[in-house]
Amino acid sequence: MAEASGKQTGTAARGMFSGNIGFILAVAGSAVGLGNIWRFPYYAAKYGGGIFLLVYVILLLTFAFGLIAAETALGRKTRLSPIGAYTSCATDREHRFLTFGGFINAIVPMIILPYYCLIGGWILKFLFQCCLGKASALAADGYFGGFIGAPLEPILWHVIFLIATVCIILKGVKSGIEKASRVMMPMLLILAFGVAVFSMTRPGAIEGVKYFIVPDFSKFSIMTVVAACGQLFFSLSIGMGILITYGSYMKKEVDIEKASINVGVIDTLVAVLAGFMVIPAVFAFSNGDPNALKAGAGLVFITLPKVFNSMDFGNFIGAAFFLMVFFAALTSNISILEACVSTLCDELRWSRKKATYAMAFEALALGVPCSLGFGPWESVQIAGMGILDLMDFVAGSMLTPFAALLTCLLIGRLIGVKAIIEEIRKSSQFKLEGLFRISIVWIAPPLLLIVFVSSVLAALGFIKM
Ligand code: PHE
Repeated sequence: MAEASGKQTGTAARGMFSGNIGFILAVAGSAVGLGNIWRFPYYAAKYGGGIFLLVYVILLLTFAFGLIAAETALGRKTRLSPIGAYTSCATDREHRFLTFGGFINAIVPMIILPYYCLIGGWILKFLFQCCLGKASALAADGYFGGFIGAPLEPILWHVIFLIATVCIILKGVKSGIEKASRVMMPMLLILAFGVAVFSMTRPGAIEGVKYFIVPDFSKFSIMTVVAACGQLFFSLSIGMGILITYGSYMKKEVDIEKASINVGVIDTLVAVLAGFMVIPAVFAFSNGDPNALKAGAGLVFITLPKVFNSMDFGNFIGAAFFLMVFFAALTSNISILEACVSTLCDELRWSRKKATYAMAFEALALGVPCSLGFGPWESVQIAGMGILDLMDFVAGSMLTPFAALLTCLLIGRLIGVKAIIEEIRKSSQFKLEGLFRISIVWIAPPLLLIVFVSSVLAALGFIKM
C-alpha cells in the first residue's frame, strides 16, 4: 500500500543513515535535550524523587518503547515524512480524517523550532560567558531577566544558534546530521558523567542524592503518572513527526527493536545523570532546602550559575555544564529542523536548500516575538501566558499527545498492528512483540487521552499539575 505510493521519493534519492550506530546516535541526539537536563530533575524533585523515577521507568518500558518503535517503523515502511506517511496509508474515504494526524505531526516541530532556537541562544550566551571566565556575572541577581528582556542581544544569539543548525542540515542526513551526532553525543555523555560526579562529591550533596533516589510514596498520585507521561513524550521526541522522519532514513537492515531500546536507555541515562548533577548541587548550595529546586525554568539559568559561582573552579565547571547543554540542545534542534525540511521537500518537492532557508526564516520571524515577549512585549499575554509559553503549551502539551494518539489509531485501526510488526520483524527478532501489541492497542491510547485532557484542564486552571 504505502510502499507503492506515488508520492514515494524512493530510497535512492532519500538521504540515509549509514547503519545502527548512526541511527541510534541521531535519534538519541534528538531525544536528549533541554527536557532531560532542565525539565527532568525539576519534575523528579517535584513529584517525589524516587517514586517519579520508578513510574517513569515503568512507563518507558511499557508504553514509550512501543511508540518509538511504531513511529520509526511507520517512517521506514512509507519512506516519507509525517504528512506523506499518513496520507499514503489513509487513502479510503472512511479513514481520510486520519490524514489530519499527519498534519499535526508535521506542524509540531514548526511551532517548536522558533523557541527552541531562542533557548539554544540563551545557552550559547551562558557558555560564552563561562568561557570568558565571567561565570560570576551570571550569578548576579537579575542577570538572567535583564538578558532575556533586552530587545536585541538574545535575538543575535538565537541567530547564531540557528545558523549552526542550518549549516548541519544543509549537509544532509549522513554527512550532516549523522556526523554531528557522532561527534557531539559521545562528548555530551562524557561531560554529563564528569559534571555529575563532581556535583555529587560536593560537601552536603549526599542529602540531595538521597532525595533524588529514595522514593517518597506519600507523594504518589495520579498526577505523578500524568507528569511522568508528559515528560516521556517531550523527552523522547514522540508525537512530533521526528521519529517518523528519522525512520524514513533508516536502512531496512537496522534493528528497530534494539535501536528503540538503546534510545530509551541513553535518554533516561542522561536524564538521571542530570538529576545527579542538579539536585545534589542545588541541595548543597541551599543547605538542604528542597524548595530551592522549585525554580522551574530558572533552575538552569538562575540557580545553577549561583551554585557554580560558589564552587572552586566555577568557570570551568559552568563551561563544562553549558557545553553539555549546548550539545544536547543543538542535536535536538537539528532533528526539529530536519523534520520540517523533510516535510517541505516531500510535500512541495522543494530542494533541501530552499526548504532549509524557508524554515530558517520562519524560525526567525516567530523567534523574534518570542524573545520580545520577555521584554518590550511583556504585556502581550494570551490565556495568561507569554508568547513562548503559549507556543510551548500548544505544541508540547496539547498537540503532541494528540498526534501520538492519532498515530496509535492509524496503526491500530487502519494499517494494522500486524503490518507494523512485519516491518519491525524485517530486521529484528522482536522478542517484545506481545508487549508492543498491548501497548499500542490498549495502554497508549487511554494514557494519551488522559495526558491530553489533563494538560488542557491544567492550562484552564481546573486542576493543579
Ligand atoms: N526531546 C528533546 C528534549 O528532551 C526536545 C525535543 C522537542 C526534541 C521537540 C525534538 C523535538 O529536550
